[in-house]
Amino acid sequence: MEAIIEPKVTLVGAGPGSHDLITVRGLQALQQSKAILYDALVSPELLKEVDPAIPKIYVGKRCNSHSRTQDEINRLLVETAFQYGSVARLKGGDPFVFGRASEEIDYVTSFGISVTVVPGVSSAIAVPASQGIPLTSRGVSSSFWVMTATKRDGTFSEDLEYAAKSTATLVILMGVRKLNEIAVEVSKYRGSHTPIALIQNGTMSNETCTVSTLNGIGEAAHKVDPSQPGIIVIGNVVAEHPTFFEEAVQRVVHSYL
Ligand SMILES: C[S@@+](CC[C@H](N)C(=O)[O-])C[C@H]1O[C@@H](n2cnc3c(N)ncnc32)[C@H](O)[C@@H]1O
Repeated sequence: MEAIIEPKVTLVGAGPGSHDLITVRGLQALQQSKAILYDALVSPELLKEVDPAIPKIYVGKRCNSHSRTQDEINRLLVETAFQYGSVARLKGGDPFVFGRASEEIDYVTSFGISVTVVPGVSSAIAVPASQGIPLTSRGVSSSFWVMTATKRDGTFSEDLEYAAKSTATLVILMGVRKLNEIAVEVSKYRGSHTPIALIQNGTMSNETCTVSTLNGIGEAAHKVDPSQPGIIVIGNVVAEHPTFFEEAVQRVVHSYL
């Protein structure tokens, strides 16, 4: 007689990018699962560390190229859990940071399937850290605000204004395509010489970092590939980046040429 499969889902945070920045518990959960549904920002290297025989289903959503809707992902998660038993839902960074984890949990549990969450290292914190940019620094910034700059309709969120009016470090996800507009908007409330960094593909071998000031980032933006994931950091902590002063000197020199 065939054993009854007890379906269960584990939401696993994959970490910020590099495959070795998943937690020990997260990797164990992947290695114990019978199927994996994974997102766009998950490293292919990480998937090589699990049983090659188990199904690994890509359900990524990147700007304007959604392969599946959230409803389809929810349904697939449930179907896969009933088919294979133990399913890992692997999400970039931490599942609860702009990860739509709650929607998946609500849907899956409505079928009586148990869900466990393994937290992940969020890119919001790890990516600036990988560039040596502290989000808090004694005497410079005592708090940080993690946000997305725009609302669903593409307009700026009220939070961007509130955060810009505060003294907090701003950590902006999903804002690469609006880099210039964000810099202009924030400079309405902060000095135009406030340091800004854009870090793309953080913690990966192709990581890049562009540092400038709010009024200078427009010029630096030509180096930016808008198709790559990036995190914008705004605040005086960015001046602690090793190249900030070198870039600032270059900007001053060029302005006299
Ligand atoms: C939908 S959010 C998911 C965030 C994720 N749950 C986390 O905790 O890191 C995706 C956004 O995170 C940021 N992001 C994720 N990984 C990144 C990386 N390695 N480098 C730069 N930005 C990254 C980008 O702003 C990207 O558009």
